[in-house]
Amino acid sequence: MADKQAKLNVGDQGFDFPVLEGSCGPDVVDIRKLYGQTGKFTFDPGYKSTASCESALTYIDGQEGVLLHRGYPIGQLAENSSFMETAYLLLNGELPSGQELDTFENTITHHTMLHEQLRQFYQGFRRDAHPMAIMCGVVGALSAFYHDSTDISDPEHRKISSHRLIAKMPTIAAMAYKYSLGQPFVYPDNSLSYTGNFLRMTFGVPAEEYEVIPEVEKAMDRIFILHADHEQNASTSTVRLAGSSGANPFACIAAGIACLWGPAHGGANEAALNMLREIGTPDKIPHYIERAKDKNDPFRLMGFGHRVYKNYDPRATVMQETVREVFEALKVDDPVFETAMRLEELALNDDYFREKKLFPNVDFYSGIILSAIGFPTTMFTALFALARTVGWVAQWNEMISDPAQVIGRPRQLYTGPTQRDYIPVDKR
Ligand code: CMC
Repeated sequence: MADKQAKLNVGDQGFDFPVLEGSCGPDVVDIRKLYGQTGKFTFDPGYKSTASCESALTYIDGQEGVLLHRGYPIGQLAENSSFMETAYLLLNGELPSGQELDTFENTITHHTMLHEQLRQFYQGFRRDAHPMAIMCGVVGALSAFYHDSTDISDPEHRKISSHRLIAKMPTIAAMAYKYSLGQPFVYPDNSLSYTGNFLRMTFGVPAEEYEVIPEVEKAMDRIFILHADHEQNASTSTVRLAGSSGANPFACIAAGIACLWGPAHGGANEAALNMLREIGTPDKIPHYIERAKDKNDPFRLMGFGHRVYKNYDPRATVMQETVREVFEALKVDDPVFETAMRLEELALNDDYFREKKLFPNVDFYSGIILSAIGFPTTMFTALFALARTVGWVAQWNEMISDPAQVIGRPRQLYTGPTQRDYIPVDKR
């Protein structure tokens, strides 16, 4: 029996439930036996008070603005680590030795090519298809090409499919971009880093040598680190729910991509940059802040607010620094950065945003960097999906390896009609 208990009174009957402690963060009341004991469900739309699983990957303290992967603060990883090393950490629980990192990078590098027939999938899309539409389709289709790694009960299969997904995502995303331009696909060059290779596949053309700019490579890699995992967010929960039925990993990640696409989740960086461009100049900011505060206007400040962070998103801090680095390296002079900084300043000094604890999130500045590097806004969410694939596969693996794992099956508060008899159409 757990040391701590929570008491719930239903009518005049009292019930005790164990209180479980994690390594940090709030305790949880274990209500798994609630229905059996009381005949009641809990009601928590949007899961605002629900821990849906046990996980050892990522910890967020939203009040303090803390984000840890396997215990390591995101700021330290962004500063000192690489995306590949962070991926290894998330998948395996510990930072790799030099040799383990080499082996991991080598393994990922040797899975970057796509089955040649997958190229034909792209021709089925219109040239103006959103890259996320292509990503959903192509990633889901991987399961039709890699049958040899879809036995989810086999840890080796799970490992291979995880590596394949991480390795092929840059190729898939870059091809989606190339297709939209009508340019030839660029095959991977395994002599480059994960991120350098992605940049070359995206911006290179067969007729010319593509030179990776180290500052851009570093910034891009850092953006990938910042997006690698984020606890039980909507898309990760989608991956877990899809995976809980035993679906293959490629199908699960395709489900995650679909969820990430929404403007309240991964689509927010696209929406944030569009908003900043629409605002245009700092003098228009007060008008948009008033609109965001107006309950009758659906407009929200995109890149502001977060379900979990009620403080500055630690990823936004790193993003802001990265904007400066990229602007300097590429000699960019885009007024959008000044607009963003001024908007942040005005919003943070406004009672509405202060009282509701709305701060810039990771998406507020990421679009500015990606745009400076040369990505169109439609690619932003695809880049998020590329990086988050690491978190998705790590979370999916964690769930499948857990012997206590069961299918996710929420219940509901039913408010529809009670039972009634069918009436033939001529009598209605
Ligand atoms: N602008 C104006 N008002 C806002 C905003 C915003 N960006 N975000 C929240 N609010 C208000 C909201 O109207 C509500 O007011 P009231 O209590 O008077 O009804 C209050 O703040 C709480 O908002 P909520 O929607 O109940 O909060 P939530 O936790 O359900 O939603 C959110 C979080 C991220 C969906 C929301 O803040 C939002 O829509 N932000 C803009 C989109 C965005 O930037 N999303 C990226 C999230 S970070 C990337 C990721 O992890 O995927």
